[in-house]
Amino acid sequence: MPEKLIFEKGAPGRRAYSLPDLDVPEAKLQDLLPREIIADRPLSLPEVSEIELIRHFTNLSRLNYGVDLGFYPLGSCTMKYNPKVNEEAAKTPGLMNAHPLQPEGLSQGALRLLYELEAFLKEIGGVARVSLQPVAGAHGELTGLLVIRAYHEAHGNPRHKVIIPDSAHGTNPASAALAGYEPIVIKSTKEGLVDVEELKKVLDTDCAALMLTNPNTLGLFEKDILEISRLAHDAGVLLYMDGANLNALLGIVRPGDMGFDVVHFNLHKTFSTPHGGGGPGAGPIGVTEKLAPFIPVPTIEKEGDRYSLDHNRPHSIGSVHGFYGNFGILVRAYAYIRRLGAKGLREVSENAVLNANYIKKRLRDHYYILNNVPCMHECVFSAKYQKTKGVHAWDITKRLQDYGFHPPTVNFPLIIDEAIMIEPTETESRETLDAFCDAMIAIAKEAETDPDLVKNAPHTRVVRRLDEAMAVKKPNLRWQK
Ligand SMILES: Cc1ncc(COP(=O)(O)O)c(C=O)c1O
Repeated sequence: MPEKLIFEKGAPGRRAYSLPDLDVPEAKLQDLLPREIIADRPLSLPEVSEIELIRHFTNLSRLNYGVDLGFYPLGSCTMKYNPKVNEEAAKTPGLMNAHPLQPEGLSQGALRLLYELEAFLKEIGGVARVSLQPVAGAHGELTGLLVIRAYHEAHGNPRHKVIIPDSAHGTNPASAALAGYEPIVIKSTKEGLVDVEELKKVLDTDCAALMLTNPNTLGLFEKDILEISRLAHDAGVLLYMDGANLNALLGIVRPGDMGFDVVHFNLHKTFSTPHGGGGPGAGPIGVTEKLAPFIPVPTIEKEGDRYSLDHNRPHSIGSVHGFYGNFGILVRAYAYIRRLGAKGLREVSENAVLNANYIKKRLRDHYYILNNVPCMHECVFSAKYQKTKGVHAWDITKRLQDYGFHPPTVNFPLIIDEAIMIEPTETESRETLDAFCDAMIAIAKEAETDPDLVKNAPHTRVVRRLDEAMAVKKPNLRWQK
């Protein structure tokens, strides 16, 4: 049964606490608060007992699915397990209670942490400077493009266009448009890679940047990246790397060494911080030397043993968020990097790639695959075979819920019809991968023998198929009598 609203539970006068009567005079509200902010009638609040309250919220929390509960193979999103030691680090009193306005002299530990996190990301990215300020991957994209715009402006012409492959994430063209650029989309090759000949046709001196995701959104490494980088730079075009897929590259190859001028790091996808979910996230950007003057203020500097914030950077694009970003998230990423070290980070990527290839191999006889070559950290199938029975990618992933798994990403990248994009991440065991593949194979058989079973899934969930478009367009968030 779906859980009732808390307003629909309880009874008038029921309370979630009972305390002995006061043995001191009761303070009057009017003596404590300004009269104008005191409500003129009682609020309409739920009236429930403590146990009703506890059960209500415990039941609700159990309707949620998260990576702590089971496998969460959402492609492109890298739903990494967040080790609890990160949380412990973020709870360190000196870090948790630090206030961004406290004097620099009292913030040396926090500033050192930020300075060192920048140093780690510089090393991992092969870049000259990092700004920790942007608070999501998409925010990093916008910040990076504003930096690119500032660079071109400083050279006399901001240019008008940004080139983006048709396999890109939707945030790429959106960020380009927000930064005042016209997105120019280029078609991929039939293998799903950047088509260098197509690229040559559109590269010109009116292009400000070429935005690429590497490995790309099909989980394939752009093998021509050095040639692409040379072609772009010859036209004065800067190379932007959407770093959403950095989990495949840690300690193996660095964006700066591939010729990228700007990269964003989705800390939640690579360094095991919680996903922002519209709340606190982090999407730092790294840039090469020539773009360093333009990154957001403040930057964190070190002189001798002392750390400080530098607001005095005349070419900076300004601030894109309060202070230096979401500190608590940055602490978690720092803890993750320190704990694993260079060797551990490389192993993260090696295992992420190994796990994805394992799934690819086990499922490739059951689901169509565009490019049957080894993948990086994620693999993209198509429900093309199942579609002939009227079963869509969407149905297959809904059916996976009945088997206890979170659905993988569907219908992205857009260039694959009926795409199912699976990203296992590095932390999953062979047993989990096998259980997931067994479920996928069982569903492929069901699609043959009993397509309606799959088309009407899920059968075991509290809610079945929600109208997601309506939920976004007309969210009903308020209880009304
Ligand atoms: C390839 C790619 N680029 C950019 C983004 C945007 O990142 P964020 O969700 O951190 O804003 C995503 C998010 O899933 C992505 O998969």
